[in-house]
Amino acid sequence: MIDQQSILPLRLDNVSFEAGGKRLIKDMTCTFETGPRTVIVGPNGAGKSLFLRLCHGLISPSLGRIVWQGAENADTRAQQAMVFQRPVMLRRSVSANIDYALKLRNISRQQRGKIIDESLGRAGLGRLRDHPARVLSFGEQQKLALARAWALKPQVLFLDEPTASLDPAATHSVEEIILAIHEQGTRIIMTTHDLGQAKRMADDVMFLNRGRLLERAPVRKFFDEPDNDLAQAFVRGELLWWRLGKDNKRNQDRSGNGNH
Ligand SMILES: Nc1ncnc2c1ncn2[C@@H]1O[C@H](COP(=O)(O)OP(=O)(O)OP(=O)(O)O)[C@@H](O)[C@H]1O
Ligand SMILES: [Mg+2]
Repeated sequence: MIDQQSILPLRLDNVSFEAGGKRLIKDMTCTFETGPRTVIVGPNGAGKSLFLRLCHGLISPSLGRIVWQGAENADTRAQQAMVFQRPVMLRRSVSANIDYALKLRNISRQQRGKIIDESLGRAGLGRLRDHPARVLSFGEQQKLALARAWALKPQVLFLDEPTASLDPAATHSVEEIILAIHEQGTRIIMTTHDLGQAKRMADDVMFLNRGRLLERAPVRKFFDEPDNDLAQAFVRGELLWWRLGKDNKRNQDRSGNGNH
């Protein structure tokens, strides 16, 4: 599928992001090579969405660098796509939503027709092609967002909580679509709240907490024996704010003066 040069690896060098006077992403250094599926987990407010937005170039680091090392002079934006938690659809038909995205990439009309049929078919949306996109159910809109991203044949696809608020059947079909996109050679980098989904979808897992990358490990290791103790608590299903509160209290009790 990918006949042009790969824009990967993607490298983050000591990336921080500040907004509203707060450091929300702190000193992140990591690399994404071609191949595996990466799933990013962590509690609410950990910085997962900000991290994806930084990688996709929707926001810029306050400190540090983000480099597509394979890109040389290639236009990396045209080689990546992102699917958001709440899909944004144009007030047009299902097929016109994909058509518009392809037109922006200067794909000819003849090719567009073929690509639209193919991607709607694969996402199981063929019968809805002439429906107004905005009347689709939430799950159908999410599938359309994936079909649209798929149609662009990106080298890298970022997905932010792609199945949040979907029922199990819709979640299953969205996961199948993501796996099929990956099979075709697209690098998958996604976030989820659902640890079951992380187990099903990840080759490697990144754990974020309070803006920091605390652990990155192959999926087996992450779930069986993560090195970081907060990652261990997270995998066990403990609420981290509670855990942090308990640790602070323990430190205070130990020191006896409450100054920790
Ligand atoms: N523009 C902004 N200005 C100030 N704070 C922000 C801004 N954008 C995000 N934040 C804060 O940054 C933190 C990380 O947000 P982010 O949306 O990345 O978290 P998340 O891990 O995706 O959480 P969730 O699991 O709830 O989706 C949050 O505390 C959020 O309130
Ligand atoms: Mg988020």
